[in-house]
Amino acid sequence: MTAPAALCVLVTRRLSVDPLPFLRARLGEGCGVELHDSDDPMPRADLLARAASADAIVATLSDRIDEELLARAPRLRVVANHAVGVDNIDLRACRARGVRATNTPDVLTDATADMAFALLLAVARRLREGERMIREGRFTGWAPTMLLGLELRGALLGIFGFGRIGQAVARRALGFGMRVAWSRREGTSAPSAPRIPADLQTKVSELSFDEMLAQADAISLHAPLNASTRHAFSAAHLARMKRGALLINTARGPLVDEAALAAALASGHLGGAGLDVFEHEPKVHPALIPRDDVVLVPHLGSATVAARRAMAETAMAEAARVLLGQEPLHPVAPR
Ligand code: 8YV
Repeated sequence: MTAPAALCVLVTRRLSVDPLPFLRARLGEGCGVELHDSDDPMPRADLLARAASADAIVATLSDRIDEELLARAPRLRVVANHAVGVDNIDLRACRARGVRATNTPDVLTDATADMAFALLLAVARRLREGERMIREGRFTGWAPTMLLGLELRGALLGIFGFGRIGQAVARRALGFGMRVAWSRREGTSAPSAPRIPADLQTKVSELSFDEMLAQADAISLHAPLNASTRHAFSAAHLARMKRGALLINTARGPLVDEAALAAALASGHLGGAGLDVFEHEPKVHPALIPRDDVVLVPHLGSATVAARRAMAETAMAEAARVLLGQEPLHPVAPR
């Protein structure tokens, strides 16, 4: 099928792949690309203005695709998110207006799982404190009791959200000799039960959310952000975690009540945290900034050359498929 001329694709951020040749190769030379060629998010007013003439939007997590935007975008047929998470998109509003939504699963699974594990190792083995000690000239010699951390072998890793990325983290943890259990939010049992791949079936166990909180030495978050997972780690839940346990979040910041996390660390109840995402991103709770038991990275989960290239190609290819009248390979629909 040939695309009609004068299609317009709005790409809201500079990506790892140049969109113009990529999209013209699929949609023809008549295809126009509106690129916000910047590492900074597209200002909301520009996004709303440019959406008016867009047939497709290649969006990132900071672009809110909501009813206000959709109402101003009469030509829009697809929002292709450059992300696996789609919490920036009002999927119901898209469906109501016949706008398809797509995401970029799989290609970022290993990169994100690596980041979760990097944070777990960094926090468990107190890398930030050791780094700082050296850079501040305070390393005066080896000592038997200096900066002792958590040994991963034998420790229990709880995984909240056992989809592709959670499972990839489980494989890494098993390779380090950890015990692995996964859990979902209470009250979300049968309908969303994940399919456990054959290689993990005998090696991981399911715990109730409360059991995981009480037993895990470290918990890594891999659930999508939605109404049932927002603040899944509230003050009350953090209080039920094992004393000294570690919390790792590479999923979405609002899964955790960040002020409550800061308080749980300050009181000594939790032993440390590794955070790639933040409740009010890009802001970070000020009480977390000076803490030596917290490792902070700026939403780098999928930030490898290979993953970001594949994410850009996947998102743009999905936009092109829909504009060509084909079924997207990675559609997302409201639950
Ligand atoms: C992206 C992410 O870097 O895929 C996701 O859901 O959070 C990250 O991999 C980001 O969302 C880019 O839009």
